[in-house]
Amino acid sequence: MTKHDQMKAIRDELLAFTHSPLYEYRTANKFFPVVGEGSHDAAIMFVGEAPGQNEAKTGRPFCGAAGKFLTLLIESIGLTRDKVYITNVVKDRPPENRDPTPEEIALYSPFLDRQVQIIQPRVIVTLGRHSMGYVMRRYDLDLELEPISKIHGKSFQTVYFDADSNPQPVTIVTLYHPASALYNGGMRDIHKKDFEVLKKFL
Ligand code: URA
Repeated sequence: MTKHDQMKAIRDELLAFTHSPLYEYRTANKFFPVVGEGSHDAAIMFVGEAPGQNEAKTGRPFCGAAGKFLTLLIESIGLTRDKVYITNVVKDRPPENRDPTPEEIALYSPFLDRQVQIIQPRVIVTLGRHSMGYVMRRYDLDLELEPISKIHGKSFQTVYFDADSNPQPVTIVTLYHPASALYNGGMRDIHKKDFEVLKKFL
């Protein structure tokens, strides 16, 4: 199967994901699951938490206010959104923008694991503490896990296992969620500085 077909299979499974606690909320509101967007050959993969209202309405990740700031940050290091891949741990919108529950993360994260195997990124950038917590534990970095205020802008070397079960090197970069700059303008400079870390992977 091509990468495109594998990603389409994920989309079809999500569309029929009736046993998710978020499925009824999605269909009652005519929302879409948000699979992800960008290059299937990207070296850098961004992983947010879960879609918000704008994302669920359009089916596109990070297309609201936080997304605008994320786009600006991506462009600030000379990249464009179509050269990276952007997705979330949870693919459906939790009601009232609440945090995803541990059960929702457990239910949806296998889709993210498959996306990592499809894209085979050199770098996975986590956006926010939920994404950081999931990705660091998933890729054996439990012992390095600290509050995001301590490890934002840091990078960690680890491996993931590809579809043939071969270990592949990957760097995990832990960043604050871009929404944090929306209610605290002082955060914008911290985001910009943290993003500079990604320059060495271009
Ligand atoms: N916040 C996220 O974590 N993901 C999105 O796609 C949008 C906002």
